[in-house]
This record gives sequence, C-alpha cells and structure tokens, in this order.
Amino acid sequence: MGWAVARAIDMLVWAAIFLLIAVVLVFAGIRVGTDGPLIVTGTAAEGDTFELRYVANPWLAYLHIVPGVFYLIGAPLQLWRRFRERHFAFHRRFGRVLLTLGLVSGVFALGFGVPFSYGGAWQSLAAAVFGSWFLVSLALAYRAIRGGDVRMHRRWMIRAFAVGLGVGMIRIWVGIFAGFQILSLEESFAPAFWLGLSMHVVAGELWLWWRPNEDGLPRRAALEPVVE
Ligand code: HEM
Repeated sequence: MGWAVARAIDMLVWAAIFLLIAVVLVFAGIRVGTDGPLIVTGTAAEGDTFELRYVANPWLAYLHIVPGVFYLIGAPLQLWRRFRERHFAFHRRFGRVLLTLGLVSGVFALGFGVPFSYGGAWQSLAAAVFGSWFLVSLALAYRAIRGGDVRMHRRWMIRAFAVGLGVGMIRIWVGIFAGFQILSLEESFAPAFWLGLSMHVVAGELWLWWRPNEDGLPRRAALEPVVE
C-alpha cells in the first residue's frame, strides 16, 4: 500500500476518533444539564424517564461518566506518536492518571450499567462483557509496560481505547434505531450496545492486524525500570 493511502487512512481514523469523542461529550453534557439541577436540589426525576436512574444513583453514575470523559479526552494524546516521543516523561506520568481514570470509569460501568440498565437484561449483559474487556485490556496494558514490553502495551491500550470510543458508536446506533422509529428508545439500547461495542472491538483488532507494530517500535523496549 502506498504511503499516501496509508496517510489518508490515518487521517480518516483520527477524524472518526474526534467525531466519536464529540458525540460522547454532547451526551455527557446533556446528562449533566438534565441531572445536575435535580441532583443539586435533591429533586427526584419524575415518572419512567431516562434520567430517573442517573438522579437516583448519582455517585455510581457520575463515577462512571466523569472519569470516563477525562480518559477519552486524554487518551488521543497518549496514542499520538510524535507527541509521545517528544514528551516521554509526560507520557508516563499522564498515563498513570489516565489509567486510573479508565479503571474507575470501567468499574462503575459495571456498578451502574449492569444493575440499572435502561434497555434491560441484554444491555446489562453487554455492559458486563465489554466493561470487563475494557478493564482487562487496561490491566494487561499496564502489566506489559511494567515488564518493559512496549509492543504489548500499545496493543492492549489500543484495545481499551477502541471499546471506550465505542460508547460514541452506541449513541449513533440508538439514534438510527429510535430516530427512524425502527425500535422504541428503550428497545434500541440493547442492540445498540452489542452492535456499537462489538464493531469497535473488531475495528481495534483490524487496526492491530494492519499495524501490528509502529515503525521503529522494538519488540522489547530498552526501558530503564520504572521507578515509582
Ligand atoms: C471510557 C469512556 C466512557 C465514557 C466517556 C462513557 C460515558 C458515558 C455517558 C456520557 C453515559 C450517559 C449516557 C447518556 O445519557 O446517553 C454513559 C452511560 C453508560 N455507560 Fe459509559 N462511558 C465510557 C465507557 C463505558 C464502557 C467501557 C462501558 C461498558 C460497556 C460503559 C457502559 C455504560 C452503561 C451501561 C451506561 C448506562 C446506559 C443507560 O443509561 O442505560 N461505558 N457512559
């Protein structure tokens, strides 16, 4: 494949990443705008509304959403090769912060998403499966870098990020199903979770197949041991 084609694909992937992050930010903003006033004034959401669960369980919900949003905004900086190479000390320090944010968000994706899903049991199952995959990927990425294996660190971090980004794809599927009245909003959630997140796991694997290694990245890095 020519250099120009590879570069065009890179640009498209980055554009998709920023678009999906923007989608997540819009929905996080809507959440805060809707739930915030009710939570602050201690008012319960009325009836069978979507926000009922967020307002009734603000700690579980926002310990998922807030760290998740910061993780998603910060991660592209870690994945951007030129920035990483120029600011390696920052990459390490910021990486620890983002890892913690991702783990907290993932734990509360399970803590909130499994018992309080809007779309029922199939959505809960998707949250359990992909939430665990997200946590395992982050943990294995950390273990790899502690052992000096940069290649595996990259692979697991890309897998984790692909799932995190899938959250934006879920909203797109909900928009298609509910917007075109193929399903009700409630019925849209479970298929949107399964479709959106599995598409992203596959996309992550395709990327890793196409780019098994970044140019010049050694199989084992000549890293000095990480000092805490
Ligand atoms: C790491 C980046 C993540 C961010 C920024 C994020 C953000 C959000 C936001 C903004 C909501 C509120 C949705 C809305 O009002 O439309 C939400 C809900 C939810 N998220 Fe995440 N999330 C992330 C990762 C994950 C992961 C990896 C999972 C596991 C599969 C997950 C599972 C859920 C579940 C189950 C809900 C509840 C949906 C419902 O209302 O029923 N999230 N997330």
